[in-house]
Amino acid sequence: MTPRPLKVIFTGADGYIGAVLGPKLLDAGYAAVGIDTGFYRRGWLFDDRRTRPMVLTKDTREIAREDLDGAYAVIHLAELSNDPLGEQDQGLTFEINHHTSVRLARLCREAGVRRFVYASSCSIYGAGGSDARTEESSVNPQTAYARCKVLVERDVKTLATPTFAPVFLRNATAFGASPRQRFDLVLNNLAGWAWTTKQIRMTSDGSPWRPLVHVDDLCQAILCALKAPHEAVAGEAFNVGADEQNYRIREIAEVVNETFPDCRLSLGNSDGDSRSYRVSFEKIRAHMPEFKCRWSLEHGAAQLRLIFERVGLTEEVFKAPPFTRLAELRYLKDSRQLGQDLRWVDLPDHADIASICLKSGQDASFGEMTATGSGQAMLKVGSL
Ligand SMILES: NC(=O)c1ccc[n+]([C@@H]2O[C@H](COP(=O)([O-])OP(=O)(O)OC[C@H]3O[C@@H](n4cnc5c(N)ncnc54)[C@H](O)[C@@H]3O)[C@@H](O)[C@H]2O)c1
Repeated sequence: MTPRPLKVIFTGADGYIGAVLGPKLLDAGYAAVGIDTGFYRRGWLFDDRRTRPMVLTKDTREIAREDLDGAYAVIHLAELSNDPLGEQDQGLTFEINHHTSVRLARLCREAGVRRFVYASSCSIYGAGGSDARTEESSVNPQTAYARCKVLVERDVKTLATPTFAPVFLRNATAFGASPRQRFDLVLNNLAGWAWTTKQIRMTSDGSPWRPLVHVDDLCQAILCALKAPHEAVAGEAFNVGADEQNYRIREIAEVVNETFPDCRLSLGNSDGDSRSYRVSFEKIRAHMPEFKCRWSLEHGAAQLRLIFERVGLTEEVFKAPPFTRLAELRYLKDSRQLGQDLRWVDLPDHADIASICLKSGQDASFGEMTATGSGQAMLKVGSL
């Protein structure tokens, strides 16, 4: 009899990494189920024609123990996912990224989940200088986003037991194609500028160090963390990337320029970004020997170029909010689809709509109703 596939739940399924990870989990034979509240679902850059797991639409703050029943592992990706986003409302960042992540890990342990793979970040090294940071190095987080990653690691590590293995993957900055594309990541951003405007615009003076990793390789690290023996990973943090993929921002821009020739390179301010860190990836090689980065920066840039050609990427699409996390959340809040607490505002149901129609003395279309209806009806319709 063939054994039943192991159930793996992954949060953030509809994000940049999640959209690449889902099909890979199925390919690897897991019974994968996603959870995501769907902040960026308007953004779908291309169809990769992969079979995708089912996704439960749910805010991680509402996850209950029953949602985790029967899961062998939980991969936790769903957070406010970069530094500028985390700075917008630091209280909320701590609520979603720190408290909710720790709560989820506790629920996992209670529910008998055996492995909790957490998407941490190399950005915890912050202003780290030019010596390569190891997992033993001190951290120096510069933002609320990075501080939350440090706090989650600290708090969740204490939950480890002989049957519950939390693993912290300190990912380098990702690059490469995902259907739920992000253009707010450095290589993707510079490539997008290059293709749509023939300019490669750096926001810093080009000197900060950044380790990079292709999104496919990052997913491979997650698969390795699922399969590794308990004792090799339980309570451990791993930098995810490759030693040869530590770059200065201007070197990344130069690689982009080779793939998108004849562009003009422009620099930002030297004080634009205090984050700069080089990272050592020796530990992941030692503990998870199957992990190896296959994608170089050059290949990642070439992949993006192919996708841009295929979808005919325009400047308008490149700059569209769904592909820039901060801009999309601003749009959803400004249009009152999300509240200030980043919870969805319910759409009126049939009873609400009927009551609006009744109050406005109309039984006709919304267009007529908003034109002639009562102030209350207009206000309600305006806040849909
Ligand atoms: N992309 C990178 O370069 C990178 C590098 C290091 C670490 N990470 C971490 O990996 C994780 C995933 O990154 P990504 O690039 O896919 O980000 P993303 O923003 O593309 O995806 C995050 C997903 O989480 C969901 N989400 C956010 N808050 C939620 C909530 N409260 N409830 C339910 N769903 C929620 C969003 O809807 C989104 O689909 C994040 O934790 C991020 O910090 C990413």
